[in-house]
Amino acid sequence: MCGIFGCVLKEGNAAPIIHTSLKRLEYRGYDSVGIATLNNKEIQIKKDQGKIDEVHQRLDLNNLEGNIGIGHTRWATHGAPLKINSHPHTDCKGDIVVVHNGIIENFLELKAELQNLGHTFVSKTDTEVMAHLIEETQKQNPKLTFEQTVLESLKRIEGSYAFAILSTQEPNKIICARNESPLVIGINNQGVFCASDVPAFLSVTNQAVMINNGELVILTAEGYEIKKISDASPITRTPITIEWTPEMAVKQGYPHFMIKEIHEQPQVLRNTLRIQDHYLDLLCTFLDRANEVFLVACGTSYHACLAASYMFSKLAYLPTYPVYASEFLEQHGKSVNIDSTILAVSQSGETADTIAAVACAQQRAATVLSLTNVIGSTLTRISRVYIGTQAGPEIGVAATKTFTSQLSVLAQLALKLAKKRGKISQDEIDCLEEKLQELPNVVDTIVTTQEEKIKQLAKKYSDSKIFFFLGRGISTATAFEGRLKLMEIAYIPAIAFPAGESKHGPISLVEDGFPVVFVCPKDDTHKTTISNIMEMKARGAHIIAIIEEGDQDIKNLAEDYIEVPKDIPAVLSPIPYSVPLQLLAYYTAVEKGYDPDMPRNLAKSVTVK
Ligand code: G6P
Repeated sequence: MCGIFGCVLKEGNAAPIIHTSLKRLEYRGYDSVGIATLNNKEIQIKKDQGKIDEVHQRLDLNNLEGNIGIGHTRWATHGAPLKINSHPHTDCKGDIVVVHNGIIENFLELKAELQNLGHTFVSKTDTEVMAHLIEETQKQNPKLTFEQTVLESLKRIEGSYAFAILSTQEPNKIICARNESPLVIGINNQGVFCASDVPAFLSVTNQAVMINNGELVILTAEGYEIKKISDASPITRTPITIEWTPEMAVKQGYPHFMIKEIHEQPQVLRNTLRIQDHYLDLLCTFLDRANEVFLVACGTSYHACLAASYMFSKLAYLPTYPVYASEFLEQHGKSVNIDSTILAVSQSGETADTIAAVACAQQRAATVLSLTNVIGSTLTRISRVYIGTQAGPEIGVAATKTFTSQLSVLAQLALKLAKKRGKISQDEIDCLEEKLQELPNVVDTIVTTQEEKIKQLAKKYSDSKIFFFLGRGISTATAFEGRLKLMEIAYIPAIAFPAGESKHGPISLVEDGFPVVFVCPKDDTHKTTISNIMEMKARGAHIIAIIEEGDQDIKNLAEDYIEVPKDIPAVLSPIPYSVPLQLLAYYTAVEKGYDPDMPRNLAKSVTVK
């Protein structure tokens, strides 16, 4: 996730407005920033890695001439947060400048093709291909206008994008285009603005035009024109008045970041499915070679590791050991060696315990691989190979979208490894890949159809003094995560354990009305889970079950249930089944009057051991 902004003013310099607006988009990314303006057919660019204020101190971002310009605040997906990878990106001659939010899926093919045609690339980003592609299209079709050249170029782009593009060929306009990544136009009597989000221009105008997928917009000082990318046909759309306060706008109208981030999951999961194969292949090569694999993490990321240990075992027949990072040194510090591989998972890439575990492993010559949401973080710098989880900045302290994005990447890795090791049939792999592709829509369905019901359940159970969260198999990890979410933001003591363990102690706590959340997808554990439900019911427990849609057996037993769409393979189930639990925790916290974004005593990134 990144933020883009552009403006064409009737008079005055655009750079100070772009700078201020990028500050308002900083919540979308903040590892690098850049601005390009056009003045008398000359393009001026200032960009660097670092937060906007730091870069401004070094470069004075307001000091660029021209009434037209574009800007970008970055959250790295391809290429580390370095000056060369910061946007805007240019073509070989520096006549075309592009800012982009999204992921160009076919950038490696396009880059190779353009390099063969003589184009020189300076960055590691996917975005730079767009600038060179426009340059090449123009070279091959010199009669095309700027707009026609962009339209032609877009036909070659696969993936998600919101682009804002400048060209010296027609220096009085910005061309924008959208597919999946958000894009909105603002208008007032000073000029026209384009942005990833309304808050960027809300201080100058509340007149906004929402742009849909498959649309291109031409911005000039006089106004805007919208066209369909497929056939260049014009679209008429008048501005609407935005009633949000700037504070509400940053949260896109949601009362908290946590609920906004829960709702972002379908799009985040789509992004994670765009991770280039060669990164996954590289990681798999190391995993395949390892004598022993430790999955090391803290908090929610540890739960992703726990789920991954089932995925690797079931799909790739690879035993892995999930370990709390804070315990790694004591538990495995002495035995880890050159034949060990550590896959560290961390949203922030800065968690002190995770970094310490990795440092210990490194000292003993083990191979360190990682998965993180923050490219450029300490973890990416000390790992042999890393993959970004593509979730964009997460502001709510309780991890939600970063958890499901970690699970999606780990599932893709497990599938790749299964293929490489020839452990499961091609039919099974094809079916799982298809199901993985469907998950963004599945999560969307859960949020759309179950949210209201979960809100009511939160009301019903918010006075409970304690909860159990139970599951079997991979659902144990889902149950652990559900319990952590409820405990950390709603401050209700909760206990999670594999359902089979009930009879070895915890069931002694159960009495009349005791709420027990069961995570029960229809997998191989379903029958035994039903027995565990019966055990609990016999002691008076109230069962809240997360079930597959239409699972009558459990519906007959549970006091309350939340339904998840059918036919989710067991190994993928933690992704959709954790979503109702995130919502349950969120609405319980709200019901009890707590701020779910800032739970007491907790921090988003824990940099002390
Ligand atoms: C803190 C956060 C959790 C997070 C954990 C690990 O406790 O509050 O949400 O899961 O750290 O963080 P990491 O950035 O390493 O995933």
